[in-house]
Amino acid sequence: MNEIIGSNIERIQELGSTNNYAATQLLTKRLPEGAVFVADSQVDGRGQASNTWESEPNKNLTFSILLYPDFLEISRQFELSKAISLGVADFLKERTDQVSIKWPNDIYIGKGKVAGILIENSVKINKISSSIVGIGLNINQKIFTGNAPNPVSLSQITNEDYDIEELLSYLCAKIDMRYHQLRKGEFGQIDGDYTKILYQLGCWSHYSDDKDDFEGCILGVDQIGRLMIETKAGKINKYNFKEVIFK
Ligand code: BTN
Repeated sequence: MNEIIGSNIERIQELGSTNNYAATQLLTKRLPEGAVFVADSQVDGRGQASNTWESEPNKNLTFSILLYPDFLEISRQFELSKAISLGVADFLKERTDQVSIKWPNDIYIGKGKVAGILIENSVKINKISSSIVGIGLNINQKIFTGNAPNPVSLSQITNEDYDIEELLSYLCAKIDMRYHQLRKGEFGQIDGDYTKILYQLGCWSHYSDDKDDFEGCILGVDQIGRLMIETKAGKINKYNFKEVIFK
């Protein structure tokens, strides 16, 4: 199987955000699918919902992958998010235990967030014409000074120091494998694997929404990626991003 992701890697010493860099490159030229832009130092990393992404220079992986998932209807865009999250989780599972995906696409080890994913899609006639998949994965950083609530690095968990460049190629291979599944339309496999690894799946835990603090049990996600939480009263609530808080 030919690898799409990672066969073409551009390394940039310092930039603001790899997602912005990839978007700017795309404006001026047609780039090959799977092109990767990786920064040694990303000084203005962006997170979900206008958050920032902290990363100490030369310690972590901060990169963006350019994809053309034009086989995906916009209604299925969450499948791409699942496939990418699973690729990152597959990679981590080979190095440590307790890896999970906190809905929608934060990657956790135990109770700490080890990776974040920011996917920015362009749409043409109901299909995803291009997608910039930004991934920040904490590898060797030991101290976090930003205001993210619970960051952790792989090295803090395993007490090892890693060769960042080597890890990037393993990680790309894992994401590539999941992207091929997606291309082949293996949604059942992707959905099943994603559900199984969801953070707090099937456990009674505390959540809050715009109405209440409540105890609930995550059942999975629906077809469009909304999180389904059962309440003690037996009701099944469905949430879009940012509509529910994990307490
Ligand atoms: C989040 O969890 O809020 C998403 C974080 C995404 C961070 C990555 S780092 C590489 C890429 N470039 C960015 O500016 N953000 C993403």
